[in-house]
Amino acid sequence: MTVPADPNWFDAGPEDLCESGSVAEVVVAGEIVALFRVDREYRAMQGTCPHHGGPLGKGMLRGCIVTCPWHGWQFDVTDGTYQHSDQLQHPCFPVKVEKGRIWIQMPAPNHGN
Ligand code: FES
Repeated sequence: MTVPADPNWFDAGPEDLCESGSVAEVVVAGEIVALFRVDREYRAMQGTCPHHGGPLGKGMLRGCIVTCPWHGWQFDVTDGTYQHSDQLQHPCFPVKVEKGRIWIQMPAPNHGN
């Protein structure tokens, strides 16, 4: 296995982790990440719901919309847009599949500089 040159890409698991239309919760670089498979493509989003911290990686995916399992807030997993207000956008992360592994690009750590 070759590690990508960019150190902010993290291995999130095998390429077949999710079937099309399904969801998984993974921990990447110490962060909970919700991983979605929409058709053949993976999408990744910060895994904790901004409402009260529900697990978006255990939500229900219909098309490209995930529904939080706790109180039903809905987000577009392609860009993080909250479905009832475009003022709220939940963080999403780039994803790629390379050499049979899923890679997620996490933001560089903020060291307070
Ligand atoms: S915690 Fe997600 S909708 Fe309330």
